[in-house]
Amino acid sequence: MDEAIKKLHHDFIDQLSHIKSLSQIESIRIDYLGRQGKINGLFKKINEVPVNQRKIYGQNLNVLKKDVSRLIEDKLKELAESEEKERYVDTTLPGKKYQKGSLHPLTLAIEEVSSIFEKIGFIRVSYPEVEWEHFSFEALNMPKGHPARDDFETFFIDQAEDDKYGKVVLSPHTSSGQTREMHRVKTPPIKMINIAKCYRPNWDVSHAPMFFQFEGLCIDKGINITHLKGTIDYFVKEFYGQERQSRLRPFHFQFTEPSFEVDISCSLCHGKGEIKKQKCRMCKSGWLELGGAGMVHPNVLKAGGIDHQEYTGWAFGWGVERVFMMKENLNIEDMRILYSGDIRFLEQF
Ligand code: PHE
Repeated sequence: MDEAIKKLHHDFIDQLSHIKSLSQIESIRIDYLGRQGKINGLFKKINEVPVNQRKIYGQNLNVLKKDVSRLIEDKLKELAESEEKERYVDTTLPGKKYQKGSLHPLTLAIEEVSSIFEKIGFIRVSYPEVEWEHFSFEALNMPKGHPARDDFETFFIDQAEDDKYGKVVLSPHTSSGQTREMHRVKTPPIKMINIAKCYRPNWDVSHAPMFFQFEGLCIDKGINITHLKGTIDYFVKEFYGQERQSRLRPFHFQFTEPSFEVDISCSLCHGKGEIKKQKCRMCKSGWLELGGAGMVHPNVLKAGGIDHQEYTGWAFGWGVERVFMMKENLNIEDMRILYSGDIRFLEQF
């Protein structure tokens, strides 16, 4: 007879699991717990059970009865709650917001810079990050032992030196792409925008050992400083806004002659250096430093296999992080946050 109790229990669980509404539950209750119901049916059969097993049979039936009542109560509660919920669904509430991924601010800046230059016919390239000493220095008019090399503090790779190209370095600037591009194109015009990672062993609030530079290079017949200034002005106005000005300040690089530092007018004081007789807190006397530029040195043209009697050119090389932070007026204390991967910072862009 135990088998009959087990089967009933099993059938009940199965039927209960198919019940989806409060109205259905009443019929299953009557079916099992009612006076003419299945459980009472089994109680009535107690006199068919051998006398010595009647006690345990009765106990098992009582356990079954209690269990069935409890499961029905639980189901009732569960159904009542879900019907309640359905009744109060407010379909006008805004949906759940999903987190959106986005590109890193520096990736966005790189894309913007390259599209600004691509619009005026520059070709985007990138050259090796692990580079020969030759392209980083010798080809840029900095022969072995030249003190100007110290300006580009450099990571050297522990690898055998090449007779022609020297040691292996992590490229300290994108200028190493200049003569590589001259060898690639061979005959000017050359209009290159080289955006790549650069490496120098510095680690402080305004330096990270890996950073990005973008290098412009333009070589053709009759290229002069006015073309450099015109291109810089175009970039400054596209990237920073029409009201911004640029200026060239004399400087020195081995690979350009003449050489300049490029400044742009400050967005806060508009180049005046002061606001209401107070010194501007953002700039030095109205201008912010963007980076280096100049007319390509004849020795660099020679190293790139280009006739320096026939062709001239200009070049500039600026840090993406710096240029980007100046655009956003980001007054951040530590630029390394750009590489921290901190989502609270990144999701603001
Ligand atoms: N390579 C120089 C630097 O890293 C910048 C530069 C590029 C200057 C091209 C002049 C011309 O500082």
